[in-house]
Amino acid sequence: MLATVSSHHFIALEERYGAHNYHPLPVVLSKGRGVYVWDVEGRCYFDFLSAYSAVNQGHCHPRIIAALIEQAQTLTLTSRAFYNDKLGPYEKFITEFFGYDRVLPMNTGVEGGETAIKICRKWGYEVKGIPSNKAKVIFAQGNFWGRTMAAISSSTDPKSYTNFGPYMPGFEIIPYNNIPALEKALQDPCVAGVMLEPIQGEAGVIVPDEGYLQQVSQLCRQHNVLFIADEIQTGIGRTGKMLACDHENVKPDILILGKALSGGVYPVSAVLTSHEIMSCIRPGEHGSTYGGNPLACAVAMAALQVVRDEHLAENAEKMGVIFRQRMKAIIEKTNTIVLVRGKGLLNAIVVNDTPEGDTAWNLCLAMKERGLLAKPTHGNIIRLAPPLVITEEELHQCCDIIEDAVKSIN
Ligand SMILES: Cc1ncc(COP(=O)(O)O)c(C=O)c1O
Repeated sequence: MLATVSSHHFIALEERYGAHNYHPLPVVLSKGRGVYVWDVEGRCYFDFLSAYSAVNQGHCHPRIIAALIEQAQTLTLTSRAFYNDKLGPYEKFITEFFGYDRVLPMNTGVEGGETAIKICRKWGYEVKGIPSNKAKVIFAQGNFWGRTMAAISSSTDPKSYTNFGPYMPGFEIIPYNNIPALEKALQDPCVAGVMLEPIQGEAGVIVPDEGYLQQVSQLCRQHNVLFIADEIQTGIGRTGKMLACDHENVKPDILILGKALSGGVYPVSAVLTSHEIMSCIRPGEHGSTYGGNPLACAVAMAALQVVRDEHLAENAEKMGVIFRQRMKAIIEKTNTIVLVRGKGLLNAIVVNDTPEGDTAWNLCLAMKERGLLAKPTHGNIIRLAPPLVITEEELHQCCDIIEDAVKSIN
């Protein structure tokens, strides 16, 4: 009889041969479908992380996988040295989908952020007239947009930046959700852009006050500064609208998308903006070997069509209301959880512990034992973000699991 290879085997391999740059929950996944994932022992779980909101359409969505396979058997990569027959149709599709003139295709989210900042700085010099090398971009405390040198240079999380200096100049950090601080920072004529997440995901699902995005957008316009929205985690239906900025009818000057743009099957990111702003980038000034490849284009088109055709933003909105109601009921009954916050299906619960405590981690382990996977972010906060295809019945089942896990550690 063949011995089954257990979770321990795979965990030991990563421990021995991999860099220890993550601290995963002790579960080894080998299969996914919709809202479900299975571990190597065959146990089934609800996925309440969705690969940090990349799998909005559910794991291995048949339509996206079909597009991937068909394109993978036809043409995968040409580089941008030549045209390909997928990029143009994809560019037309995505710009019309989000109401922008032009798109610059990249791969990972952080490359999208880098690209947006490059476009913004160039616009600052060539259109706004900022003196050479003086352009500033404003970020908010608690932001997260990846791990490159530029991304960590704007980070306020010591774990992200410590001992990786020297840092990128030209970045200013102000408090999030604070209009007076922004007004003050915008007095400097060298400011080219303000880059924000409409809801701060990694910081623990921090939802700004209603009207904040509207005010940011207006102030940016007043001061001739570009508003860059990082919708890599909040976009593509996650918060109950196609974009989180749609909640306030705000149209950013530059929009960055990633993660769910591919439904979790392939790294695809995109930077969308106007003719005027995008025309600052000319041949040879920016690019990527894989950016805009036919495989990525086919996958991204299918991924966006799925979100639209299956009304996933609408489902996220509806399910989110039920989810927060259920969490509030748990908060009233126990003192393990003190707060639930979020929009659509991007939510977090705050556990009654210090950020250094292990209650949130233990709660995640208790949820895992009961068939639901989630992970703490910043110690005592647990982000709860299932794929947007979750049904009401499944959602109630998940809330029952969370409630039972909370009681078990109460
Ligand atoms: C808001 C936001 N921006 C950018 C990124 C970086 O994306 P990637 O990990 O694909 O580089 C993330 C990743 O979590 C994110 O949440």
